[in-house]
Amino acid sequence: MEKLINQALEDYARSHSSPLPDVLQELEQYTRTHRSDAQMLSGPLEGGLLRLLVMLSSARRILEIGLFTGYSALTMATALPVNGEIISCEKDPEAIAIAQRFFDRTPHGRKIHIRPGPALDTLEALRDEQFDLAFIDADKENYPSYYERVLPLLRPGGLLVIDNTLWSGQVLSPKTPADLAIAALNRKVRNDDTVDAVLLTVRDGVTVVRKKTTASY
Ligand SMILES: C[S@@+](CC[C@H](N)C(=O)[O-])C[C@H]1O[C@@H](n2cnc3c(N)ncnc32)[C@H](O)[C@@H]1O
Repeated sequence: MEKLINQALEDYARSHSSPLPDVLQELEQYTRTHRSDAQMLSGPLEGGLLRLLVMLSSARRILEIGLFTGYSALTMATALPVNGEIISCEKDPEAIAIAQRFFDRTPHGRKIHIRPGPALDTLEALRDEQFDLAFIDADKENYPSYYERVLPLLRPGGLLVIDNTLWSGQVLSPKTPADLAIAALNRKVRNDDTVDAVLLTVRDGVTVVRKKTTASY
């Protein structure tokens, strides 16, 4: 991922944000040492943002698309009440095994329920459920489909956070299927009058969407 902000400023932002629990630093370190695709991990700055959004929205039920080794799920779990839960979709069994090992080390891990397999299948199975917050961070080609399927599962006033919406700047002249899908998703969000949204220039672009209540549109 090409950095949109220089490393020194990113480090400064990290070091001037509230520290996250030690187990998350260990999980990040473990992932960087053992996975060649560790750049997929969201990290402390975006994790801190997710954690605050969970607190600010008083979320109790969270849906995540894209667990990887569990960094974002465990970060959000630390902000949930004891009866809170996260359902997280992931298709990679090795990533799931790492995540579960770290979840087993903390009481917050008990709030996370992993749904192995393709996320679109899991979303179909969840069609009668409702969530307070959702985080989309998986295969980019499916972003428009995830948006269409996740929004109906959010309660009115619920939040949707979407990662990588600047896609290393590729959204400015999209070429590959992933570029085109993210650009299409960004247009879809912009033209959707059932939501309020802002595309933040945090990390690789993070869009925060609030589903309007029926009274507000
Ligand atoms: C960017 S990583 C998620 C990072 C994670 N949220 C974190 O903060 O560490 C994307 C993950 O989505 C998973 N994934 C990709 N396509 C998927 C699909 N169709 N169904 C379920 N998981 C998928 C990948 O295996 C990968 O682990």
